[in-house]
Amino acid sequence: MDGERRADLTLEGLVHDLNNVFETISEAADLIAGDSRSKKLANSIHRSVARGERIVESFVETARGSVELAGVLSCATEFARDFLSTGRSPEVEFDLQLEPGLRLKGLPGAWERVFVNLFLNAAQAMKQGGTIQVRARLAGGGVEIVVADQGPGIPPEILPEIFKPHFSTKSSRRSAFKGLGLHIVESVVSQNGGAVAAANRPDAAGAEFTIRLPEG
Ligand SMILES: Nc1ncnc2c1ncn2[C@@H]1O[C@H](COP(=O)(O)OP(=O)(O)O)[C@@H](O)[C@H]1O
Ligand SMILES: [Mg+2]
Repeated sequence: MDGERRADLTLEGLVHDLNNVFETISEAADLIAGDSRSKKLANSIHRSVARGERIVESFVETARGSVELAGVLSCATEFARDFLSTGRSPEVEFDLQLEPGLRLKGLPGAWERVFVNLFLNAAQAMKQGGTIQVRARLAGGGVEIVVADQGPGIPPEILPEIFKPHFSTKSSRRSAFKGLGLHIVESVVSQNGGAVAAANRPDAAGAEFTIRLPEG
């Protein structure tokens, strides 16, 4: 039919066939893992397959100009966990409650930076450790995402300052680079047509960041 591309030539068709290739390689890796001498090799093949899948997924998302929130959050929590596990950080847990199927306009890498920055700030505020809550739902015709922590909250007098570049209450040797996390958050959110607000939690101690965006 005019204007309609054959399924085997579309991006979806390509991803479908590549996923079959990944599945075949994974099954072969499972088979060779049966021999104890090949376990390391099998693990390395599985990691390569996972990397290939991520590359394909991020290519598709970039081509579509829209990302799946659940995937972004899983990468961001994984990165934040890795970051926190290398320091002497207190124990931080994640509690995610997401409406299924939510998508955001924009690029996966940019959204990962948004959530990693919010998670690291939350973790740094929770000196005794605690839980970082993420709630996401459709609201008012768009997507609403709330990231809340169990730290001391944000003193009201600095609330109007925190999104400004280089505003920071942290002592750091690398002062040229501090105070940029929330500025990055706000830039990415506004580039994608949304808004972000900071507040203290109404229900408990802690800070709460709310992002509102058009659906992707
Ligand atoms: N979850 C939070 N709880 C309490 N204060 C926060 C939180 N997130 C950010 N802040 C405050 O906002 C400031 C700016 O944050 P950010 O832009 O990420 O820069 P940085 O983390 O380098 O200080 C922080 O120094 C801190 O005072
Ligand atoms: Mg920060």
